[in-house]
Amino acid sequence: MASLIEIRKLRKQFGAFVAVDDVSFSVDRGEVLGFLGPNGAGKSTTMKMITGFLTPTAGTAVVSGHDIGKEPMKAKEKIGYLPEGAPAYPEMTPQSFLRFVAEVRGLRGADRDRRVDEVVSRVSLESHLYVPIESLSKGYKRRVGLAQAIIHDPEVLVMDEPTDGLDPNQKFHVRNLIQKMAPNKATILSTHILEEVEAVCTRAIIIAAGRIIADGTPDELASRSANHNSVLLRLKRESGTQLREKLEKLPGVKRVEFKEDDAGASLHLFSERGRPILKDVSRLAFDQRVEVDEIREERGKLDEVFRELTHEATVKAGREN
Ligand SMILES: Nc1ncnc2c1ncn2[C@@H]1O[C@H](COP(=O)(O)OP(=O)(O)O)[C@@H](O)[C@H]1O
Ligand SMILES: [Mg+2]
Repeated sequence: MASLIEIRKLRKQFGAFVAVDDVSFSVDRGEVLGFLGPNGAGKSTTMKMITGFLTPTAGTAVVSGHDIGKEPMKAKEKIGYLPEGAPAYPEMTPQSFLRFVAEVRGLRGADRDRRVDEVVSRVSLESHLYVPIESLSKGYKRRVGLAQAIIHDPEVLVMDEPTDGLDPNQKFHVRNLIQKMAPNKATILSTHILEEVEAVCTRAIIIAAGRIIADGTPDELASRSANHNSVLLRLKRESGTQLREKLEKLPGVKRVEFKEDDAGASLHLFSERGRPILKDVSRLAFDQRVEVDEIREERGKLDEVFRELTHEATVKAGREN
């Protein structure tokens, strides 16, 4: 079966500037795709094209089988979209705004009211229903945005930085909500927060200077870190000096960082192509009868990979900001 979201060679130019460059991917039901990238990478522009708020220069987005360019109404019925920033209609109250959105989505009467109550409770908006949206804090404005995005229980949910401006408790709450809704939907969210990706995303795409530079599960991406399967070793200073040269020559060890302090020596051994070296390292230490204070294997972190990859790509494109 086709994926709920199919993006094919999307491109957006503003004048001569290419904001999104040949982006293709698909998202299946149950997937939560994290869209990661530095400021100006092209995340919001891509999301606006998927949801029909911007016309692509080239390429297509097909949502629930409907091409957003050819059948915009049918595609939009299936989409819930939380745009960046605050909801429009600042002078309306959340209550009247959500009723209005529900009606636009075709809900009437008791159905409409029930659905409004439901989403209000889902995003915990009860206490702020009757004040103008413009007077709400950033966190509450974000909740109004989320509520309108899910009011018709869409099978495709596109959220541009859903937890932006929320405090840690609210962030936690929104992540839980996304996870709860995820099994029946295809979800895309953009974020700067890497722990958010690890917490809620089944898959992540890293985008820089308008191009996809990595695509995989959070674990797969983290394993691309130079730190993946590297080994940290702490020992007495003399033992450190004794072992250092031998470790540098050990097959599979690419590089050794050596540090000394009053407490002893620490060695950080980076592995060739991320292959496991822990066993060989501990065997060598054992064979040399060296007493080891601590030995530990590192997994690598998503934020290291993010920094390495995006830095490279933005420098290459001359788009550092
Ligand atoms: N309407 C526009 N006109 C000109 N340039 C734009 C417009 N919208 C976005 N851009 C540029 O396109 C690039 C990507 O922007 P955006 O998609 O908002 O990035 P992100 O959401 O990843 O931070 C940025 O360099 C931005 O300045
Ligand atoms: Mg953005």
